Amino acid sequence: MHPVIEWKDGAVVMLDQRLLPGATKFIFHRGHLEVARSIREMAIRGAPAIGIAAAYGIALGVAELEASPELDRPGFLEGKFKEIVLAITATRPTAVNLFWAAARMEGVFRAHQADYPRLRRELLAAAVALDREDYENNRSIGRNGQRLLQDGDTVLTHCNAGALATAGYGTALGVVRAAIEAGKRIKVIAGETRPYLQGARLTVWELQEDGIPVTLITDNMAGHVMKKKLAQAVIVGADRIAANGDAANKIGTYSLAVLARHHALPFYVAAPLSTIDPATSDGDGIPIEEREGAEVTSFRGQMTARPQTAVYNPAFDVTPAALITAIITEEKILLPPFGPAIASLAGLRRK
Ligand code: MRU
Repeated sequence: MHPVIEWKDGAVVMLDQRLLPGATKFIFHRGHLEVARSIREMAIRGAPAIGIAAAYGIALGVAELEASPELDRPGFLEGKFKEIVLAITATRPTAVNLFWAAARMEGVFRAHQADYPRLRRELLAAAVALDREDYENNRSIGRNGQRLLQDGDTVLTHCNAGALATAGYGTALGVVRAAIEAGKRIKVIAGETRPYLQGARLTVWELQEDGIPVTLITDNMAGHVMKKKLAQAVIVGADRIAANGDAANKIGTYSLAVLARHHALPFYVAAPLSTIDPATSDGDGIPIEEREGAEVTSFRGQMTARPQTAVYNPAFDVTPAALITAIITEEKILLPPFGPAIASLAGLRRK
């Protein structure tokens, strides 16, 4: 599959995920405000992919200043950098990867702000490194997590935590891919993920592209599927994991975790360390994005309820740590109690 995001000839190129599965079109971004808009409007989505877009967007924003006559004025670059970071981060509030990537880029800025040509090069190099690291992290998540699956298992997943949501390979779907690469016969059941249909539009598409068997269900079929023993495990991604292991992910994830507990199914969260937010002690502190009601009352312009209908449209929910069997990271598989397990992560201390 073509990467969902890359830097090409001075532009940030993204696959427009809003058009999938109908069309594969790429958007060429020549300014950081365009990148910010693509994050806000979900041309790119998925926590790690948003982080990568933020890094490239910041590198692009600083490159845009090249011709500015004020470049040598004291404080100019610093002020502009803050504006760029704010424009990029004020797009979506829940996925911590966005803020994590911006903080990493800020570290590069601090180290090289005195030398603009070098700063530009270093920011781009940092964005490319972050992109590559994410891909490698997904491979490691897959390697670690695939041990939890048996030959013949069917995995129930929600939203899209796959190649489309990351630098490639995926987190939850990375575990599935790695298990298949290890010779296990694994099938996937994908919840459609109302209202934005990331499951139906994206997860099903990317699994079909790879020839991985996938069956689509509507979200309200999950209890029935579990009762019928049609799935042996639930694996989802995350947008932000608090220090105690509470995990925010796409709306509907919490319901799946409750159902999985009732049916004694393992419930796994697969995520890189960049999704862990040690500064947020528990799930109550995770900001939950609320999106416009039109996403619920219509789909692609087709009305499914009266437009003036009152709507509540939180894009994410928080699954309490107590309902999570294990958190699969690139470093290791974390088991409860998650507080000490998260605190022990060597990679998190370096983050
Ligand atoms: O609103 P989205 O599509 O950005 O939400 C994405 C999710 O909730 C994913 O499950 C999560 O970011 C993990 S992606 C590896």
